[in-house]
Amino acid sequence: MPAESKNVTVVGLQWGDEGKGKVVDAMARFCRYVVRYCGGANAGHTVTVDGERFAMHLIPCGILNEGVCNIIGNGVAFDPTVALEEISQLRDRGITVGPENLRVSAAANVVMPYHKLQDRLSEARLGDAKLGTTVRGIGPCYADKANRSTAIRVADLTEPSVLSSKIERIVAIKNNTFAALYDAEPINAEEISETYASYGKTLAPMISNTGKLLRDGIAAGERILFEGGQGSMLDIDHGTYPFVTSSSVTACGVPAGAGVPPSEVGQVIGLIKSYTTRVGTGPFPTEQDNDIGDTLRQRGNEYGTTTGRPRRCGWFDAFAARYAVELSGVSELALSLLDVLTGLNEVKICTGYQKDGQDMDVFEPNTMAKMQCVYETLPGWKADISGCRRFDELPQEAQNYVARVEQILDRAVGVISVGPERTQTIPHHTQMEGLFA
Ligand code: IMP
Repeated sequence: MPAESKNVTVVGLQWGDEGKGKVVDAMARFCRYVVRYCGGANAGHTVTVDGERFAMHLIPCGILNEGVCNIIGNGVAFDPTVALEEISQLRDRGITVGPENLRVSAAANVVMPYHKLQDRLSEARLGDAKLGTTVRGIGPCYADKANRSTAIRVADLTEPSVLSSKIERIVAIKNNTFAALYDAEPINAEEISETYASYGKTLAPMISNTGKLLRDGIAAGERILFEGGQGSMLDIDHGTYPFVTSSSVTACGVPAGAGVPPSEVGQVIGLIKSYTTRVGTGPFPTEQDNDIGDTLRQRGNEYGTTTGRPRRCGWFDAFAARYAVELSGVSELALSLLDVLTGLNEVKICTGYQKDGQDMDVFEPNTMAKMQCVYETLPGWKADISGCRRFDELPQEAQNYVARVEQILDRAVGVISVGPERTQTIPHHTQMEGLFA
């Protein structure tokens, strides 16, 4: 039997944008590897260090920590244009990025220009029925992964002749499809082949068998941090389908998306925002399309990191979050953006849903659009909490709010975030000794 895993997985329990970047950055220095295992450049993970803001889409958030090897796993939809741009922006800001601290799985699937085009054309065609995607080509890339014969993998980028013959064949199919469906202009296979072969040449030193690297790391006793993308309610299988992303974003996606055994998922930290947000279309029972929602958006600067779209805002949905806690086997919670609730006279927590006046026993992500929310109302607080560093410095009402969240979700809140800076963190009931310094 393998020894108990020392690894950690960080997952979002809502619809993404829970503040995973800050938590990953905080724990990364105690880990040898930080691994993205799902999603792609649709993610936007933000880390703020001494007032300097870094927004990462593809590169794992361990990149700002020395001695950490960052891995883009096989489960990621890898867009080389975004990766290379991010690498160059980080280098311009004095951050070292190279094979010593960034590896890309040879088995990851590549987001191609026709995936982004298809995402855009398909969303436009759907009109009011659109999914509200980030238009980063994520869905079409994973569709080609499942289709197999029309997929390009990262390893192909390093073999120009294999790459050009695959692209020639695939682009012929795409051109036929796009012309028939969208009356679109043909795309040029040769240009794409040349550009993507040049990306392959630049990336070659970083392309590896990352699954093997991680399994060897485990055998050597190294600690791995798995960095979830998006949020549990956007999971392809367990989220609010079809208004979801196209990969397995919960902790269940870690083994397949990183190439490690299921026993290596380790402790799971579930990230929750103190309220709820959602970008894009789809059900959102606690949404406040009113002054409360506007206040949360303004105070929380709730605009998409990837698309700049205003996020829909609402009260904390504990019924949905409890489902996500169960799904990922969450060990403890991290509560973010508590400072955003400051100034509200009262704060509400959704504790359950009702249908036709009857309490729902089981959370069903696919029927939630038709539900009425059952709310519990707690007194708000007025004092600025962004400077608090200890739990007992928080106003009693804020302490009560945290305690109630713990009670309803039946999990301890390990840490509380009261601002974007690394230092704006309050350790609370964490069991992850040595991981939250
Ligand atoms: P896609 O992943 O671009 O296909 O978008 C599908 C849905 O997931 C849309 O509602 C997006 O707004 C949402 N989404 C994808 N990635 C993120 C993220 O990182 N944060 C929040 N929402 C996301």
